Amino acid sequence: MDLYLDSADRDALAPLLATGLFRGVTTNPLILQRAGVRLSEVPSLVSWLLASGADEVFVQTTAADADAIEREGHALRDLSDRLVVKVPATGPGLVATRRLSAAGVPVLLTVVYHPNQAVLAAAAGARLIAPYLGRMTEAGRDGRADLRTMARALAGTGTGVLVASVRDAAVVPELAADGLEAVTVGTDVAHAMFAEPLTDAAMVQFDAATSALR
Ligand code: E4P
Repeated sequence: MDLYLDSADRDALAPLLATGLFRGVTTNPLILQRAGVRLSEVPSLVSWLLASGADEVFVQTTAADADAIEREGHALRDLSDRLVVKVPATGPGLVATRRLSAAGVPVLLTVVYHPNQAVLAAAAGARLIAPYLGRMTEAGRDGRADLRTMARALAGTGTGVLVASVRDAAVVPELAADGLEAVTVGTDVAHAMFAEPLTDAAMVQFDAATSALR
């Protein structure tokens, strides 16, 4: 499973990117706002992320109509050939996704809640969709079941699933076991993935034994 980090906080990202375990970084306007990154600072953030261990960086368009989303998508992609353009799953967003994809710009269709949007994303040629698992669950939907439907619906289409809006680390291996290929997690969830008290307890024993062996 490909792991991504869902943050724009350089201090929080740096140690996690340095592990080499996370393939890239996803952002959206809320994430940028929380990290205090203005839109004019996105190019320098992208450069920093790519120099700090991210193979890929995802940046979301902010325009509302298809022509403007398309222009913004091309401008973002001009920053790097390792940048994937995130486009919201609105009607204009799907039109722009089709145009950008046809022009060779990789697009992740984001803010996806329903399997129908997955089908539309594939028709538009998106490389990935980002279903919002946490928000789906919080809205009372069976997010896990919808994700499985999306994955089955997309099989063989060339459009993959990158699960977003993940609230806890425990769901990550369950998503992997369901066959989902990629997930993005906040830095707190990423740290929680490493935490296992039984491993820590066993290491205390091994360290004590190692000392006794010297
Ligand atoms: C990632 O690409 C998404 O934009 C993000 O995971 C949304 O998560 P949220 O529900 O925590 O805002």
